[in-house]
Amino acid sequence: MVAVFFCCTGSLWAQETLKTYADKIPLNIGTCVGSAFDSNDQTYINALKREFNTVVCENAMKPYSLQPSQGSFSFINADKLVAFAQQNNMKIRGHTLVWHNQNPNWLSKGSWTRATLLAAMKAHINGVLSHFKGKIIEWDVVNEAFDDSGAGARRTSFWQNTIGNDYIDSAFVYAHQADPAALLFYNDYSTCTMNTKSTAIYTMIKTMLANNVPIHGIGFQSHQQISDTSTSFFAGMKANFDRFAKLGLKISITELDVRMPLPSNQTALKAQAVVYRGFMQLALATPSCQTFMMWGFSDKYSWIPQQFPGEGAACIYDENFQPKPAYTALLDVLKAPIISTRFQGFSRPAHGPWSFDCESNSILVQDGQPGHPVLLEMFNPKGAKTGEYYSQSGVRTPLTPFNMARGTYILRANGAAARIPLIR
Ligand code: XIL
Repeated sequence: MVAVFFCCTGSLWAQETLKTYADKIPLNIGTCVGSAFDSNDQTYINALKREFNTVVCENAMKPYSLQPSQGSFSFINADKLVAFAQQNNMKIRGHTLVWHNQNPNWLSKGSWTRATLLAAMKAHINGVLSHFKGKIIEWDVVNEAFDDSGAGARRTSFWQNTIGNDYIDSAFVYAHQADPAALLFYNDYSTCTMNTKSTAIYTMIKTMLANNVPIHGIGFQSHQQISDTSTSFFAGMKANFDRFAKLGLKISITELDVRMPLPSNQTALKAQAVVYRGFMQLALATPSCQTFMMWGFSDKYSWIPQQFPGEGAACIYDENFQPKPAYTALLDVLKAPIISTRFQGFSRPAHGPWSFDCESNSILVQDGQPGHPVLLEMFNPKGAKTGEYYSQSGVRTPLTPFNMARGTYILRANGAAARIPLIR
């Protein structure tokens, strides 16, 4: 058993891909997929299959793509990516149902009453969710509903203007009715840290939950810049993630990219790696974060230069599909998935979570059966087994009595392994 585990990880780790390590934690790691896939760029497609276990359509699931004329749906392009993902054992995020951008003219320029627009929204959501039922891990139901005024106000849009504030509640209710098993997300940008926009969203979601509106997660788009490297930025992000997690929400990083002024240089690329690293560290330190998506992975196809003239180089691979320092940073963090924060490290194994508390050197394993004995296996960093112990599910067990020397161990429990620092 032990030999199999280490032999197996040894050979897989030798491949050094993001997906190999993410699968072990497990973490959904992915990218948006657009024109490169449509044009069948094989270099791109090979890297996509090698590095990621999750995809999201860059544009093909937006309303203008899926319902170009009213009542007539066109799933061809989205279905191509869904089929590709399924063939390659990848998961799919759904993006997006209700947004102020990229709508067909009949929708965004139509003349609507509150009642007719709600009906059109419901018909779109029904058509899309029933088509993709069971195939999508998370849906961005509403995208970017708040503006950037700094006042935490709702964005002016035909949805907002015609229906009013409760268009968001309606979208989530319709989505839940169409597919009761779907996980439903609110998604937005410039919301990673505590600010008026994220606070307005926090308040909205709290109210939705109090009113039993079916919302299950929050997506942080995370279109970042290379200046986002400070400790205070990441501390603010952690505090923000924590407050949303406390509401019981799933937290997903949905569109990470880190742009810089062009042309890039080594200093900027290093700063970029710090930002990517910090995001991955925070994702792994947040038990309710199971999805880490980037908005493209090669600078060759990134949306940034078009949207932000003079800026670019925002992805983890360059235009020739060479890994940048940001790629190495993500790989490093994924290789050692335990987070050595002062208080806790987390792992999300398939059979139930376990967490290790670095202050008390104790482990808490949960396998859904309280009191059930759970095997803990300890290995030294070279892979030699140093001991086997039992912990009871749901009961915090200190490791100190086991007389283990101070140092770094690999602890395996419930089918997942992670590195723990044992400090005594
Ligand atoms: C972008 C796509 O990348 C572009 O190809 C398209 O022209 C415009 O939209 N936030 C979102 C994404 O939620 O849907 C956007 O995608 C990027 C910003």
